[in-house]
Amino acid sequence: MFDKRYQITKPFEFNKENGPFEEIDNKNSQIKEILGENGIDADFFGFKTKLPIGVAAGPLYNKNYMKGAANDGFEVICWKTFRSVARLAHRSNGDFLGHNIVFIKSDMFDKSKTDNVLKGSLEFNEDKEKVSITNSFGMPSTLPSVWMPEIVDIEKFTEENNKQTIASVVGTPDENGGISELADDYAFCARMCELSGAKIIEVNLSCPNVKGKEGSIFKNPKDAALIVKRTKEFFINKNTKLLMKVGYCEVEEYEELLKETSPYIDGVVAINTIPMTVVDKEGMQALPGGSKSGICGYPILDMAVQAVKNLVQVKEKLNLDLRIFGCGGVTSPEAFMKHIDAGAEFVFVGTAALFNPELPTQIAKYLAKNNIKRSIIK
Ligand SMILES: Cc1cc2nc3c(=O)[nH]c(=O)nc-3n(C[C@H](O)[C@H](O)[C@H](O)COP(=O)(O)O)c2cc1C
Repeated sequence: MFDKRYQITKPFEFNKENGPFEEIDNKNSQIKEILGENGIDADFFGFKTKLPIGVAAGPLYNKNYMKGAANDGFEVICWKTFRSVARLAHRSNGDFLGHNIVFIKSDMFDKSKTDNVLKGSLEFNEDKEKVSITNSFGMPSTLPSVWMPEIVDIEKFTEENNKQTIASVVGTPDENGGISELADDYAFCARMCELSGAKIIEVNLSCPNVKGKEGSIFKNPKDAALIVKRTKEFFINKNTKLLMKVGYCEVEEYEELLKETSPYIDGVVAINTIPMTVVDKEGMQALPGGSKSGICGYPILDMAVQAVKNLVQVKEKLNLDLRIFGCGGVTSPEAFMKHIDAGAEFVFVGTAALFNPELPTQIAKYLAKNNIKRSIIK
């Protein structure tokens, strides 16, 4: 049941080449019927929907994954992060199991103990609404000459199917270069997406599974500002929207970050995965890459919701014209509602897109059953 979208015993490249491993039925008309008058009116940069649920950067590796997620009923679908250079995913060096995801137990995670060592497993035997994983990919990518035509194809598909896309990008640090060269590379990738038809572009400033400085830029407001400024200024079309993907921060840190970056961005997506050490049953590091891998799914819900609240607080304090989007821990309708109640204007899922892809239908049923008719457009 859990390997229909992603085979966790296999490496990333196998899944990208061959997945998803099932025919994905189109559930959109069923979802519309279930929702009827119910639903949460949401506007995503002019795209209107009653189900503000999308897929975050990461789980959709190729055109079939993108089309499959649209068929599942996700309204906005984001590509896995693109680079300007080709890079393979983290892989086994002999010490590791040679794959990029393991399951963890949902109750293992304690956010106050980030130096805890968690146990990973290839077997999952909990409720799928509590699915908890750790992943370590290192943001693999093909070259722009490969991914640009894929964007062109999916832009056509989503336009015909009344869906919206996001293209996620990351810069690749040059050994001899500094932050300015890195900012240029972000801007270059974003421009390549734009040239392929992408209208909403997300810069990932927050991947815990990379060794280079591109993983924690959200902690450095000046560097983050240089990247978003240069990216925005390099857009050809002034209507192209720019989103910034960040990790967890306290209010004061977000305030500093948004003071510097808000003139250049249209929205913030929070949060990325939470880095922790995960070992296998022999006590060996469970995944390749750095010593830590990113925890995501059910256990990070509370942190993600807190991040949304913190961002909303800063947005209101500084009176910013900015969209705050929730991401993290959404594996059930109740978790989705926590993000909405915290002030998220749209909610994105990573883990659930692979391991509980019925989520849009479940949310539609939940909203209808509880007669939730709500508008979050202020
Ligand atoms: C399989 C997988 C791959 C991911 N790859 C990326 C990525 O390439 N870029 C990125 O910004 N975030 C990536 N993420 C992080 C997600 O976008 C999201 O921020 C995180 O998983 C928290 O959401 P979740 O709890 O719903 O999984 C990935 C997550 C998963 C599960």
